[in-house]
Amino acid sequence: MVDWSVNSWRNFPIKQVPEYSDKVKVVNVEKELSLRPPLVFAEEARRLRKRMADVAEGKAFLLQGGDCAESFAEHNANNIRDSFRVLLQMAVVLTFGSALPVVKIGRLAGQYSKPRSSPFEIIGDIELPSYRGDMVNDMEFNKNAREPNPERLIKVYDKSASTLNLLRAFASGGMADLTKLHEWNLEFVRGTKEAEKYKNLAAQITSSLEFMNACGMTPENTPQLRETEFYTSHEGLLLNYEEALTRKDTITEEKGWFATSAHMLWIGDRTRAIDEAHIEYMRGIANPIGLKCGPSTDPDDLLRLIEKLNPLNQAGRLTLIARMGVNDIHKKLKPLVSAVKKSGLIVGWCCDPMHGNTVKASSGFKTRKMDDIMTEVKGFFDVHGEMNTVPGGVHFEMTGQNVTECVGGVYAVSESNLGDRYHTHCDPRLNATQSLELAFLLADLLAETRGKVGKPFSVIA
Ligand code: PEP
Ligand code: CO
Repeated sequence: MVDWSVNSWRNFPIKQVPEYSDKVKVVNVEKELSLRPPLVFAEEARRLRKRMADVAEGKAFLLQGGDCAESFAEHNANNIRDSFRVLLQMAVVLTFGSALPVVKIGRLAGQYSKPRSSPFEIIGDIELPSYRGDMVNDMEFNKNAREPNPERLIKVYDKSASTLNLLRAFASGGMADLTKLHEWNLEFVRGTKEAEKYKNLAAQITSSLEFMNACGMTPENTPQLRETEFYTSHEGLLLNYEEALTRKDTITEEKGWFATSAHMLWIGDRTRAIDEAHIEYMRGIANPIGLKCGPSTDPDDLLRLIEKLNPLNQAGRLTLIARMGVNDIHKKLKPLVSAVKKSGLIVGWCCDPMHGNTVKASSGFKTRKMDDIMTEVKGFFDVHGEMNTVPGGVHFEMTGQNVTECVGGVYAVSESNLGDRYHTHCDPRLNATQSLELAFLLADLLAETRGKVGKPFSVIA
């Protein structure tokens, strides 16, 4: 990598990072983090890059999901278990719909910092720095709480390490057992027109498992039925944290530098300027990375960014996460897909139907409508259908808890219910039943896509 080092990003302008008042404390924290063991191993990140190459080629489907912002207060085993379980249930439904392996990546074990549209928040006549995630400051609205504290970086490392430890245990220790996972609760569809469709699909999955069981494939003798690969990701926003955990791979020939805070990092929509610090840092790490593409993304700028982030045009290195909003998806995504297709640059395409669809309810709560989310996902599939390109995956903000943050769904959360269980530290998330509902919708879309092109996502040259 030409003219790159783990700290070369420090020579570039940077957005969305806190101004700490105690600079000596920052240096000490960075030093301490750089002595801590890596959270993930380079070989795992390399394996995920291979999986993402399959996603780009239509040989696998990506499911990336989890909290908008993890929080210290809600860091506990039950929450981690419930998010893991819902993600895996969604993955089972998607595997069935697509007849493809599903690559599972959590927005978990490190998703503690947030870019904000305004650096300040005003309530009444008081103006304070915005809350930027528990990695930076505290959500409470007072001067002390909103002061950025670098010691929070160490706490994020510790919390992430314990989350990851539990996720690894779940992935291989019995929580991923397919024969148990499919026992989801379909109560939420009772009495609706979707009920029959979902019940049929669920029944088909059950009979497939029974068939495999009859053929002698059981969780006891078939590791694929009881274990899974589960990866972690977060927005790589606080680059001093990422730098301290960036390590040289000494084991393989490749000898690259890997971010070891997570398997995959993504670049946010607000920090993707080509000549700024976030792009500089990300271009040098060897992990698979994501790039959020909002409605302001220009096709030519995007091509330059892809060339910079993936100069060797390596499959699996870069996934573009489109977050256009329901009204813009067709108009804004198609020129990007078209430009990338013409260029011959290899990327995976993923749909984030959350971040372009945040609205304010009359009650004042930030929310998202299930209808908008579903329509944007459909639009994403339509564009790829028209372009004969691969709709590689989806990116959701969700939780395993029964929150009331997004409105709609067959078990409808209405605007007037939003206050019942509105717990998010940042953006509104899908609850467990809304997540599963979305997975059923996706299974339908994936099955249709398969039908159209004859075999899973085969792209006609
Ligand atoms: C996010 O994924 O939480 C986020 C802030 O997204 P974006 O950068 O697309 O706005
Ligand atoms: Co968000």
